[in-house]
Amino acid sequence: MLGRCPVCGEWGTYEEEVYDSVDRRLTVGRPSGKTAKLLQEIEVQEETRINVLNGELNRVLGGGLVPGSLVLLGGEPGIGKSTLALQVLMQQGERKTLYASGEESARQIKLRAERLAGNPKNLFLLAETSLERILDQVREVNPEIVVIDSIQTISTEGLEATIGSLTQVRECAARILQFAKDSNIPFILIGHINKEGALAGPKVLEHIVDTVLQFEGDQHYMYRILRAQKNRFGSTSELGIYEMQQNGLREVSNPSELLLSSASNSLSGVAVAAAVEGARPFLIEVQALVSSAAYGTPQRSSTGFDGRRLNMLLAVLEKRVGFKLLQKDVFLNIAGGLRVNDPAIDLAVLAAVLSSNMDIPLDSDTAITGEVGLAGEIRPVARIEQRIREAAKLGFRRILIPSGQRLNPKEYTEIQLIEVSKVTDAFRVLIKK
Ligand code: TYD
Ligand code: MG
Repeated sequence: MLGRCPVCGEWGTYEEEVYDSVDRRLTVGRPSGKTAKLLQEIEVQEETRINVLNGELNRVLGGGLVPGSLVLLGGEPGIGKSTLALQVLMQQGERKTLYASGEESARQIKLRAERLAGNPKNLFLLAETSLERILDQVREVNPEIVVIDSIQTISTEGLEATIGSLTQVRECAARILQFAKDSNIPFILIGHINKEGALAGPKVLEHIVDTVLQFEGDQHYMYRILRAQKNRFGSTSELGIYEMQQNGLREVSNPSELLLSSASNSLSGVAVAAAVEGARPFLIEVQALVSSAAYGTPQRSSTGFDGRRLNMLLAVLEKRVGFKLLQKDVFLNIAGGLRVNDPAIDLAVLAAVLSSNMDIPLDSDTAITGEVGLAGEIRPVARIEQRIREAAKLGFRRILIPSGQRLNPKEYTEIQLIEVSKVTDAFRVLIKK
């Protein structure tokens, strides 16, 4: 605290002011001019959305960027957050945008931009860590979209807390939120996440912003998945898929092609599942490796698929099908580094495990869809028509589906539907010795 005023020279004229997360000085005591209205008198305008000219990002946002909204783009260092944000701004053509970075110099950003496609006419760059100066420039430039890279590298005045600290990050976000709502300019904030996958520091940040997007992928794969963890303006089930290339991120509008690319035809332990994420169907490869346990306790490991669900499915295999997996290690992997939550891939998981265990490859012309219940029964799945069409489109000749899905087989002339009601039925179809 300051004792003596540097301006008037008086002692004891300073008063401590305690901030909370939102700067109340901006709002408290100032008449807002708002009066309460009757519900039926409130007119709802068609929500305007900014088409960001990037299909995958539009999809994950729920149909474009909402003016005045605050979007947090999180992900591990090096995954491609800066690339995605800069690339999207570079796709905006005439639209005025601002990219403010506390991470890199304007020169570094320019060098990165040179690798990326796009022909921006009105993209402003600013290397700056002071939030106030960034917001000054936003007022000056008046862009339609602002990116701040990253929330952990900027700081706001009047706050002692160090850059990147929880207090600093939260305060900056709260001020940006206020600014975004007042100006109706949307902000995309980039945030790093730590190894555990949490947005560094601020859980609070997730509450402040309207939308939390997570950019993820395996460093070893070139695919990148964008998903909404929270979205005030749309669903959280949509996926955006990109491929990291030399000249930036390519949108993958047909994921199946990518996820099936590995030429693992006629290998044992591979099954193709017809999955749905969000509103999009795609076919993915489930890979299993079953081997004799080297040590006493067998290992169970799964990538891209819930480990507990795998254990449940293996228990079903033991109890209902009579496979002795007790002395076996089981490794499961979803190709392409994708994480799948769709329960309809259960049957493909079991098929892959079985195929590996018996070392018999599955027919590469057959796709599989079906959820597996505790009794070994195969349960109906959502969006079955879409799954079948996707499989047919990709040239599969047969698809295993849960029985009782009430389909008209005449509608599917190009692909054979094989209805199965139990895991054992499915195995009989899949594995013919
Ligand atoms: P970056 O966007 O800097 O990641 P983040 O902001 O999430 O930390 O991307 C980092 C990686 O992407 C880096 O290893 C280089 C690679 N990359 C490409 O492969 N192609 C490109 O066109 C660009 C710009 C980056
Ligand atoms: Mg970056």
